[in-house]
Amino acid sequence: MTFDFSSVSLDWLRAKPGRKWQQREAPFSAWIADMDFPPAPVITEALQERITSGDLGYPNWGGTAGPSPAVGAFVEWVQRRHQWKIEAADVREWSDVLQAVQTILHVCTTPGDRVVVHTPAYPPFFDALKATGTQLMAVNAVRDGTSWRWDHDDLDARLAATPAKVLLLCNPHNPTGHCFSERELRELLGIAERRNLLIVADEIHMDLVHAPHRHIPLGTLGSERVVTLTSASKSFNLAGLHYAVSHVGSPAVAAALKSLPERVVGEPGMLGVIAAHAAWTRGAPWLDAVRDHLVEMRANVAHLVGSNLPGVTMTPPDATYLAWLDCRATSIADDPSRAFARVGVAVNSGDDFGPGGEGHVRLNFATSPEVLERTIHAMAGAVAT
Ligand SMILES: Cc1ncc(COP(=O)(O)O)c(C=O)c1O
Repeated sequence: MTFDFSSVSLDWLRAKPGRKWQQREAPFSAWIADMDFPPAPVITEALQERITSGDLGYPNWGGTAGPSPAVGAFVEWVQRRHQWKIEAADVREWSDVLQAVQTILHVCTTPGDRVVVHTPAYPPFFDALKATGTQLMAVNAVRDGTSWRWDHDDLDARLAATPAKVLLLCNPHNPTGHCFSERELRELLGIAERRNLLIVADEIHMDLVHAPHRHIPLGTLGSERVVTLTSASKSFNLAGLHYAVSHVGSPAVAAALKSLPERVVGEPGMLGVIAAHAAWTRGAPWLDAVRDHLVEMRANVAHLVGSNLPGVTMTPPDATYLAWLDCRATSIADDPSRAFARVGVAVNSGDDFGPGGEGHVRLNFATSPEVLERTIHAMAGAVAT
């Protein structure tokens, strides 16, 4: 089966009602992490089938009816795609990953506790810390040739003197696109063991890792201290449907979550479940095709940035469809996202990503070659000397 990711037109994109193309009112929109493509046909068909059935009442799952069919599909998906063998009984369903992050921090920390985060970091992580009154303990990224690294020995030494409660890990990492290696993950598990940390691993980009890199679910290396959160929403472009899952390896977290009143956490909506189920049972051919396309777009973005944006540099991401552009050597270093907005391009401001974000922007390249080229040509107007 072939899928076409190259002919999305600007007219079609600009008419899309969602946040990405409406909120910033920019002629070119490369910010929030939605892809520009329609979802996999198997997902649209599954949703249409439910809608035309005429039954949008309470689904026959959830609450006393038990877990949804998406849970079993997820268990099989991670076994097939990531060689991760888990029990359905350890999987919980959520409306979205950030709800799970927030709830787990809420039950596992008390105000004033420290939370370790690899910075720059996905901005809502900072909101979650703020909402729980916890303090950021930042581990700052170092650009290391064509990759990224974080100094885990230094982190270990700092934790010996200043304890923290949780490591909120983002793997693959947003915004750098770094895919943590087995060695790095084992280092982090060792630190968690020595320094008594819970690791909350946000693996929402797990299915968007580009060869030769390979996603290793942290839970495959040891799960007693780990809670893993993920969703089909990034890899299958379904964020508006709100469905996510957690695998809770930590018995303490499992007990803490169990003690919450059921209605506090709520239940995901039926269409989110149906879409995730279709994705994880029948979506693999579409996902493989979109990943091939993203690899091509990653090469395009590196080439277009190099030839059109003097002074802007990037490390091609191991995963995701996000390019982290370093604009510190340009005349717009003070506020590059504002400069790009002035020439009609919406990107994410690096300032929102915390330490290490200064002078950077995040560009979403999950679009067609033509739209990407026009976007970067427009950006060139901001950095022309
Ligand atoms: C690392 C990361 N976590 C969580 C989310 C948001 O997930 P959700 O919409 O399920 O809350 C995103 C969205 O881009 C993300 O990049």
